[in-house]
Parts: sequence; structure tokens; C-alpha cells
Amino acid sequence: MQSIISALVEALWFILPAYFANSIPVDVSKLRVLEWLGKSIDGGRSWGGKRILGDGKTWRGFFSGIIAGTLVGALQAEFQGSVQASYPQLPEMTLPLALMLSMGAIFGDMIASFFKRRIGMPRGEPAPLLDQLDFVFGAVFFAWLWSIAAYGGVAGSFEKMVGYDRFFLIVLVTPFFHLLGNGMAWVAKLKDRPW
Ligand code: CTP
Ligand code: MG
Repeated sequence: MQSIISALVEALWFILPAYFANSIPVDVSKLRVLEWLGKSIDGGRSWGGKRILGDGKTWRGFFSGIIAGTLVGALQAEFQGSVQASYPQLPEMTLPLALMLSMGAIFGDMIASFFKRRIGMPRGEPAPLLDQLDFVFGAVFFAWLWSIAAYGGVAGSFEKMVGYDRFFLIVLVTPFFHLLGNGMAWVAKLKDRPW
């Protein structure tokens, strides 16, 4: 039991900046002060008769997500030592890693929207598992690119960054956290649909 909790804490410690990068865009989507940033990233443009990304992907979400995720990671880096005292195997959070996780989360989410539009799904239409995991794969991929540079090569870099076991755990638990978070955002009237 203890080892499951430790593994979960370690996994969440690594992916936390991506969670914030993915959820803050929803939380700030109704803020009047950020309305000027609310333009869609694709500028309303279509490709082949369908929107490139859709109105759900805005500059407001892009910047707020990257900034929030990076700030959370910076905070984690600050507390790395004290949390590590209780969880010796804690993966190391650093500012550049948090930035890469956050940018990767935002881009992964945009790529998913791009493919949703291509197959004709309107903005907000649910794509089970893709909606819940797109940002995780984007985040882990971007973070891994950074880790290759940070650890001086591909060999062993994924293992040093987070490890396959923890990555598997992240993929397993994220859909539940995602649905929980979206449900809460729906209750708070930040989202029109509870998913
Ligand atoms: N959001 C944003 N900018 C982003 C990502 C998200 O403004 N880059 C905000 C939008 O208000 C969006 C909400 O966060 O509606 C939820 O994000 P998501 O579920 O990814 O977008 P959807 O509206 O469901 O659109 P899509 O079908 O493209 O996923
Ligand atoms: Mg969605």
C-alpha cells in the first residue's frame, strides 16, 4: 500500500505542471480582464471547409496554461528537497522541465483539436480518452526532448526523467482526475458540459 502511494505521489509530482497547463485555460476562460486574449489561435480560419483548431483554442488559454504550469513547476522545484525527505525516489522538477511539460500539454491539446476538426467533430464534442490524454502525451514528449539534452543522450533519459512504471500510472489515473476536474468546472459554470 505504502509503495502504491509513493508511486502515485512521484508520478503526480512529475506531471503536475501539465495538469495546471491543461486546466487553467478553462478556469480563466470567463475572465473579463483576459478577454483581449480570447481570440482563437487559428484566427477563425478554415481548411477544407472545417476550422483548423476551432474556438476552443485561444491565445488566452495558450499563454495562461504555459505560464501557470511553469509557475507551479517553479514552486515544486523550490520544495523539492522537503518533499523528497518523505519520498526519496521523487523525480526532480526543474524550471525548464516545467516549461517543457506545460508547452507540451498545450501543443498536445491543440494537435488533438486539429485532428478532431479534420474528422468533422465540432468544438467541444467529446472524444473519449483522446480528450483526457492528449495533453499528457504532448507533455511527456516535450519533457523527454528536454531530458535527452539534460541527461546527454537518448539512452536512459526516459527512465531518469520519470520511468515507465510512473508513466503508466499517469496514463492510468489521468482520465479520472480529468473527469473530476471537468465536473468541478461544470459545477462552477466554467464549462457548458461536464466533460
Ligand atoms: N481553452 C482555451 N485555449 C486553449 C485550450 C483550452 O481557451 N488553448 C479553453 C476553452 O475555453 C475551451 C476549454 O478551455 O473550451 C476546454 O478545453 P478543451 O476541452 O480542450 O476544448 P473544447 O472546447 O472541448 O474544444 P475541442 O473540441 O477542440 O477539444
Ligand atoms: Mg474538450
